[in-house]
Amino acid sequence: FFLNFLISGSNRTLLAVTHRHGPCSPIPSKTRPTLGEILRQDQLRVNYLQQVASHGSRETRVQESQTSVPAKLGFALGSAEYVVTVGYGTPEQNQTVDFDTGSDISWIQCQPCPACYPQQENYFNASQSSSYASIPCSSPECSLSFQHACSNSTCIYGVTYGDGSSTVGYLSRETLTLSPSDKVSGFIFGCGQSNKHFIGKLAGLMGLGRGNLSLVSQTSQKFGNVFSYCLPPTESSAGYLTFGEPAPSAAISYTPMHTDPTFYVVNLTAISVGGQQLAIQPSVFSSAMFILDSGTVITRLPPSAYQVLRSAFQSSMMNYTMRKSSGILDTCYDENVDIKPAPVALHFEGNVTLNLDDSGILFDNCLAFAGNKKDSDGGIIV
Ligand SMILES: *[C@@H]1O[C@H](CO)[C@@H](O)[C@H](O)[C@H]1NC(C)=O
Ligand SMILES: *[C@@H]1O[C@H](CO)[C@@H](O)[C@H](O)[C@H]1NC(C)=O
Ligand SMILES: *[C@@H]1O[C@H](CO)[C@@H](O)[C@H](O)[C@H]1NC(C)=O
Ligand SMILES: *[C@@H]1O[C@H](CO)[C@@H](O)[C@H](O)[C@H]1NC(C)=O
Ligand SMILES: *[C@@H]1O[C@H](CO)[C@@H](O)[C@H](O)[C@H]1NC(C)=O
Ligand SMILES: *[C@@H]1O[C@H](CO)[C@@H](O)[C@H](O)[C@H]1NC(C)=O
Repeated sequence: FFLNFLISGSNRTLLAVTHRHGPCSPIPSKTRPTLGEILRQDQLRVNYLQQVASHGSRETRVQESQTSVPAKLGFALGSAEYVVTVGYGTPEQNQTVDFDTGSDISWIQCQPCPACYPQQENYFNASQSSSYASIPCSSPECSLSFQHACSNSTCIYGVTYGDGSSTVGYLSRETLTLSPSDKVSGFIFGCGQSNKHFIGKLAGLMGLGRGNLSLVSQTSQKFGNVFSYCLPPTESSAGYLTFGEPAPSAAISYTPMHTDPTFYVVNLTAISVGGQQLAIQPSVFSSAMFILDSGTVITRLPPSAYQVLRSAFQSSMMNYTMRKSSGILDTCYDENVDIKPAPVALHFEGNVTLNLDDSGILFDNCLAFAGNKKDSDGGIIV
């Protein structure tokens, strides 16, 4: 990937991001989820994010939910639409994984694997790596995984996701290759020996959350807790995931980030359609929390904001024929028509304007936004 060449030698690294089902995917799959399945997974993820957000931290939330809804604790992965390939071990074994700003621990399926789901690449085999080491229970790192246990003095981690999927295995260290010139040694990850109910034949997951075990936190010395990503606008193009400060550029604007322990939270202040700022009460924005999330597909807004956006968008799209709604997507246009959406911009604290790409405005020819149940649920920006 040519951009790697341009940035090698600095504390910055770049990985290609591809759509899991598109022709650029390293593991193109023939079975695609339906729109209904994508939206169902998306809602599970949104429910999870909101539940954690309203309880302050993942740990308190898990403890509380164990008494009330035991079947639904933990994370929800969403539909895992975008993937990156990294190398685990020495020599490296390439593994294509989902990346997730909403969770911390990275894990892959590991041999010997009593209960692995099928994946397209070879399973990671720790016996073929000279840099693999499991972590003993006595090590302080063991308690960083909030579900952990001990087996023959070796640390076991576990993660249960909200959609019923789970991974359990050895908490381990390995050399992680992000790009040919960027290796992270001693990276703590989950070597998953029992992994259930995951969709999509991916090798595992890369956690980019704010907790101590995430890749971002583990590489903070090198990359300074800074990363950025650009999702590919179409299935047949590549995006990128970079770690480290971007080169200074006039195209970059900054908005302050909240000091949330779990999520990346910013202040959304206004929305525009066709260059016109919408008349939405400022209090709808100032009293809500807006989470930036890589794993959600449809941007969620407080309902009072969504209703105004929807009616302004529909007015500017009068020339197109609407079709019936698809689940939570209620502003949909003819599927077989090439639609040029009205421009939509999001405005953030610090006078930052984000003009959305067409691919961020429409999903399957539907307005790619939905309202949450109530204004205090806040929003999730995709
Ligand atoms: C990379 O980070 C290290 C550790 O923070 C620092 O010593 C070094 O100067 C940085 N290199 C570059 C090129 O910024
Ligand atoms: C892993 O992927 C990289 C980048 O595509 C490639 O250069 C390398 O040869 C691959 N390694 C193996 C062992 O397949
Ligand atoms: C893992 O690698 C070891 C050493 O090369 C080999 O003996 C073993 O059969 C491999 N395991 C599997 C399940 O492929
Ligand atoms: C986890 O990170 C926080 C800072 O984000 C730090 O205060 C805390 O000591 C870390 N915990 C461990 C066990 O390393
Ligand atoms: C976000 O908005 C809230 C409420 O208006 C304010 O208290 C806070 O300072 C703002 N910025 C950040 C980064 O939290
Ligand atoms: C709708 O179509 C009419 C006639 O073709 C055109 O004049 C008008 O600019 C179009 N409006 C929008 C919003 O595209």
